[in-house]
Amino acid sequence: MTTYHITLLPGDGVGPEVTAAAQQVLETVGGAFNLDFQFSSHDFGGIAIDRQADPLPPATLSACKNADAVFLGAVGGPKWGTGKVRPEQGLLGLRKSLNLFANLRPVKLHPALAAHAPLRADLVTGVDMLIMRELTGGLYFGEKTRTEDTASDLCTYSRFEITRIARAAFAAARQRRGSVTSIDKANVLETSRLWRETVTALHEAEFADVDLRHELVDSAAMKLITAPGSYDVILTENLFGDILSDECSVLSGSIGLLGSASLGEDGGPGVFEPIHGSAPDIAGKGIANPVGAIASAAMLLRYGLKENAAANALDAAIYKALDAGKATQDLGGALSTQEMTDAVAWHIHK
Ligand code: NAD
Ligand code: IPM
Ligand code: MN
Repeated sequence: MTTYHITLLPGDGVGPEVTAAAQQVLETVGGAFNLDFQFSSHDFGGIAIDRQADPLPPATLSACKNADAVFLGAVGGPKWGTGKVRPEQGLLGLRKSLNLFANLRPVKLHPALAAHAPLRADLVTGVDMLIMRELTGGLYFGEKTRTEDTASDLCTYSRFEITRIARAAFAAARQRRGSVTSIDKANVLETSRLWRETVTALHEAEFADVDLRHELVDSAAMKLITAPGSYDVILTENLFGDILSDECSVLSGSIGLLGSASLGEDGGPGVFEPIHGSAPDIAGKGIANPVGAIASAAMLLRYGLKENAAANALDAAIYKALDAGKATQDLGGALSTQEMTDAVAWHIHK
């Protein structure tokens, strides 16, 4: 029996509801694969502001640093708004502290959902992409200034930062369909011109076997809707990746389906979280789609713990539950969060 220490950061809104779902399926997988998970929950985000006046209290950060992996629900909500101390600062602080520069967001359409996706089935059939989002640079982390009437956010990228995320994207493409689309705004932004130059140089030096194309973010936002099947790995900077991944979630059927892994380079703990937020409009109702959280738990097994057999079993269980027509309201179904979680758990077998 292998023991793993998992730090849970349920957070705010639907965060605790979907974190409970992830914990439940991890326990079921653990039973089937002889893995012992020791979970510990910590204040993070809005609830940590309420209880400790700090969205990322020191004890929470050290529990993350000492864990084998971190599972995060979601943070934020109207209660905390966009004031001086914000839940989202905790999330950015955590990503920076753990050096989580690579954010993997797979987008894959389950065949059973093509008819329920907001876009026409013939457009979305075959969608299978991986968004490789840079997570610790760009506008999110540049210097911010504010006077009464003027504000600025500095966007900075170094060759080092671009190279390491591009390397992750090319390596991922080799395990997939061998194609990378790098998305930037090189016709306007200096950071994007350095981005394009650096990605091209790395491609020539180390990854000439991978197909590389560059696209401007505005037209890419359009083509992701009109020809989503033409993308394999998408490589992009922090803010573009944030926006495009919510857009791409629609291709899969619902934002409630997508999971993510945020990884560093030094073998430290990764953070695994659904890409959706705290969904204040449905929080507390028990109807949030838990699949994004459960898919994040599968990524935790795969990338965080290298328990590939258990990860495969969990992914297969998600697939089978969707195949059987199990769905929450966001996908036109009627299941509660708990019923959907039970449906996935029922399909977990060694
Ligand atoms: P959101 O992702 O929370 O919600 C957008 C829409 O998607 C809502 O209508 C919501 O009901 C729906 N939705 C989201 N998750 C769902 C699920 N699992 N099942 C069914 N429907 C779901 O985005 P928002 O409303 O713009 O943001 C709310 C708060 O969440 C903000 O404070 C934002 O900063 C925060 N946020 C946090 C994270 C995170 O913690 N990683 C990510 C995104 C947004
Ligand atoms: C996400 C979220 C975060 C981001 C916010 C809550 C800071 O939208 O994880 O996608 O912008 O990265
Ligand atoms: Mn986002």
